[in-house]
Amino acid sequence: MKGPIGVFDSGFGGLTILREFLDTMPEYDFVYIGDNARAPYGNRSFEVIYSYTRESVLRFFEMGSPLVVLACNTASARALRNIQQIDLPQISGNKRVLGVIRPTAEMIGSVTKTRHIGILATPGTVMSNSYPVEINKIFPEICVTQQACPILVPLAENDEIDNAGCDYFVKKYIDELLSKDSLIDAVLLGCTHYPVMIESFRKFIPDHIKIVQQDNIVAVSLKDYLSRHPEIDVKCSKNSSVRYYTTDSTDNFCSRGRIFLGKEFSAEKIALG
Ligand code: DGL
Repeated sequence: MKGPIGVFDSGFGGLTILREFLDTMPEYDFVYIGDNARAPYGNRSFEVIYSYTRESVLRFFEMGSPLVVLACNTASARALRNIQQIDLPQISGNKRVLGVIRPTAEMIGSVTKTRHIGILATPGTVMSNSYPVEINKIFPEICVTQQACPILVPLAENDEIDNAGCDYFVKKYIDELLSKDSLIDAVLLGCTHYPVMIESFRKFIPDHIKIVQQDNIVAVSLKDYLSRHPEIDVKCSKNSSVRYYTTDSTDNFCSRGRIFLGKEFSAEKIALG
């Protein structure tokens, strides 16, 4: 039985990753779940993020997905390990769940000359320490400095971007990050919501510092994964279809989601839990 690739985020952010999947591998079928009713996840506890993420993963499996991508750093940081190590062996050895942190960590070595990088992410991602751990497994010499940005996801979810309020918080977090390490020459936007605020980041991140976005990294990595795992690829259906689900109002999801996906789409409501 073939099925669509599942793409999950706490809300809108994963649409920035899905957008790149659709550009890079348009022949595949995808199904997206945004848990908007319970977003943001970033300030929630490990147990809650794991339990919410697990519910979506199980729903994707019910829909026939052979492979799920957690297109959310917070869910990848807080839930992926448990899902891979505890849930998958119990549910089915044939399903796969991937995250966004490992592929990002793998390529980060190629963007820094000073070997000092900065990460902007949600408090959940920062507290998990997943980025320093994953990056230092591959590049032990890289010095990783993190900055939690608790207000940015709520701003993005509420379409408060491209304005003075957004600029204020983006500048504040960048200043805090750079004050901790003046040798940083690359800053990773370690949250899939942040690409919609790219203009603010460009305004306040000094020109000599590279801004690293994840959307393309994750898409290239997924394509590579499927080419190396034909046993999974063969289970992915390829009719160029996409279905969108949200746990909150579909009107709201479609009107705001357009900014993240870059085009109009329609969605259905789904109940989790
Ligand atoms: N897009 C999610 C991420 O990449 C945002 C998490 C949240 O809901 O706070 O971390």
